[in-house]
Amino acid sequence: MTAQEEVAIVDVPKRKRAGLEWILEESFEGWYLMHSKRTLRDIELVRAAMSTGKAVGLVMLKTLGKGVGYVYYIAVAKANRKRGIGKILLEDALRHFKASSLEEVFASVEEDNEPSEALFASEGFTRTSFGEVSKKHGSLHALNMYREMLVVPGEVLLRRTIT
Ligand SMILES: CC(C)(COP(=O)(O)OP(=O)(O)OC[C@H]1O[C@@H](n2cnc3c(N)ncnc32)[C@H](O)[C@@H]1OP(=O)(O)O)[C@@H](O)C(=O)NCCC(=O)NCCS
Repeated sequence: MTAQEEVAIVDVPKRKRAGLEWILEESFEGWYLMHSKRTLRDIELVRAAMSTGKAVGLVMLKTLGKGVGYVYYIAVAKANRKRGIGKILLEDALRHFKASSLEEVFASVEEDNEPSEALFASEGFTRTSFGEVSKKHGSLHALNMYREMLVVPGEVLLRRTIT
């Protein structure tokens, strides 16, 4: 059976999110782990990939302002990686943003995080820069977006449009 057939994506309300922390513990370390746990508690939308009644992955989504979506964190439990679950979560996120009439989506990944960049590239995301974002949104707005996305040195910003 393929991941597509056996995985369901569901909304996770705030009161149930603590049950997903173990996936973050398997996926991040140090500051990222701490920050991802805080974001899991507070962010507007968390979607989880469920397989045989158990969560196997999650994505945290946010709207950054008019027309712009942000994939804050995406993580798949170690035992379930490379089976297409990250891709299902990302495709679901893109459908969600499209249904909310957003026009572009950003994500930031660590420069050397090959699996993550491969996942986003497989869904049409390409690298962008502060210069490009400023050109489109103006430098003040771009600065605010970068702040909200918490893009830090050593990370690259990825972008794709939604059509
Ligand atoms: C990044 C992550 C979510 C990918 O999830 P996944 O379920 O293993 O990814 P998928 O199986 O859906 O693969 C999606 C694409 O990425 C590629 N990919 C996945 N893992 C890869 C790896 N280790 N090396 C190279 N490519 C990889 C796949 O080949 C696939 O590309 P294709 O469609 O062109 O074949 C997972 O590795 C993870 O949880 N990592 C730790 C957390 C993290 O770094 N999150 C991202 C930053 S927020």
